[in-house]
Amino acid sequence: MSKYPPVYYSDYLQIDKLLSSQKLKSNEYGHKAHDEMLFIIVHQVYELWFKQILHEIDSVNTMFRDDIVDEKSIGTAVSRLHRITEIQKLMVEQLRVIETMTPLDFLEFRDFLIPASGFQSFQFRLIENKLGLSDNKRIQYNNVDYLNTLEEPHKKLIFDTVKDPSLFELLNKWLERTPFINTKKFNFWQSYKQTVENMLEKDRNIILENKTLSETKREFQLKNIDITLENFDALFDEKKYDQLLNEGKRHLSNKAMLAAIFINLYRDEPILHMPYNLLNYLVEIDELFTEWRYRHALMVHRMIGAKIGTGGSSGHQYLMQTVEKHRVFVDLFNLPTYLIPRSELPKLPVELVRELGFNHSKA
Ligand code: HEM
Repeated sequence: MSKYPPVYYSDYLQIDKLLSSQKLKSNEYGHKAHDEMLFIIVHQVYELWFKQILHEIDSVNTMFRDDIVDEKSIGTAVSRLHRITEIQKLMVEQLRVIETMTPLDFLEFRDFLIPASGFQSFQFRLIENKLGLSDNKRIQYNNVDYLNTLEEPHKKLIFDTVKDPSLFELLNKWLERTPFINTKKFNFWQSYKQTVENMLEKDRNIILENKTLSETKREFQLKNIDITLENFDALFDEKKYDQLLNEGKRHLSNKAMLAAIFINLYRDEPILHMPYNLLNYLVEIDELFTEWRYRHALMVHRMIGAKIGTGGSSGHQYLMQTVEKHRVFVDLFNLPTYLIPRSELPKLPVELVRELGFNHSKA
C-alpha cells in the first residue's frame, strides 16, 4: 500500500479541463467548420511542447548562471538540450497533421480569427528570448513590434525574461572561463593559425588551377578566400574582432569563439566530450527551429498563398525572412570553416590535458 492518497488518472492530468478547452468560433457563429477542431488542437499541442521546452531551457540557464559549472551539471544540461531537439523533431513532423486541412477548409473559419495569430504566441517569444534572439536581430513587419500585439500579462512575462541572461549570453561567459585559453607555455594558437593559413592557401591554389572556372567565378571564389582569411585573422586581433562584433558579423566574444574552436578541434579528448556535445546540441536546436520556421512558412504559403496573415503580416514573405535571420548560434555554425584535419592538429602538452577539467575557473 502506498503511503500517499490514491490518485485518479483524469484528476491528476486535469483531463476535463483539457478536453473542455476547445471553443470553436465556427460553432459560436453558427457556421459549421469541421476543421477548426484540428486547428485548435494542433496549436494547443504546440503550446504544450513550448511549455516543456521552456521548462528545459530555464533549468539549463539556471545551471549556467553559476560562476563554476560542475561536470554533473554539464551532463544534465546536455541531456535536457537533447530532449529539446527530440521535441523539435516532433514539432516539425506535426506540421503534416495541419497540412491535411485544405486551403478551402481553412477559409471556412479564417476570418473568425482576425487578428489572432501564432505571431501572438508569448511562449514562442519566451523561447526565442531565453535562447538569445536579440531585439536588434528581429525582423519587423509593418513596423509592428511583436510586444505591441500582446496583452499586458504576457508583455510583462517577456520584459522579465529580457532582464535575465539568455542561454547565448551564459554560454559566452562559460566559454570565456575555459582555462586553456590563458595557457602561456603552449603555443597552440600559433601552430594552429599556420595550419589554417596553409589550408586556405591550398584552397586558393585549387581555384587558380581549376580550368573549368570562368574568370568571374574564379575572382568571386578568390575573394571569398580573402574574406575567410581576413575573418580568421580577426580571431587573433582584438581590434578587428571588435569591429566584426560591432557590425553584427560576430556574436560570441573573441575569447569565447577561440574556446569553442578549441573544444571542436580537441573533441576527441574524453574531457571535452561533454562540452562538445553541448555546443553540438545548441547548433541542432538552432537548426531545428530554422527547419520548423521554413516548414511552417511553406505550409503557410500552401494554405494562404500570397494573402496576408490573420496577424496582418505579409504572411509567407515575412516568415521566410525570419528563417534566415532569427538564428541565435550562427557563430557555432560558421566555426567548421576553421577546423583542420585531426592529423594536422598541434599536439597538446600533457599538463594541459590534465588541466582541462569541466570545473572552469572563475572569470
Ligand atoms: C493553417 C495553419 C496556419 C497558418 C495559415 C499560419 C499562418 C501564419 C502567418 C501568416 C504568420 C505570420 C504572422 C501573421 O501575419 O499572422 C504566422 C506566424 C506564426 N505562426 Fe502560424 N500559421 C498556421 C499554423 C501554425 C501552427 C500550427 C503553429 C504552432 C504553434 C503556428 C505558430 C506560429 C508562430 C509561432 C508564428 C510567429 C512566427 C514568427 O514571428 O517568427 N502557426 N503563422
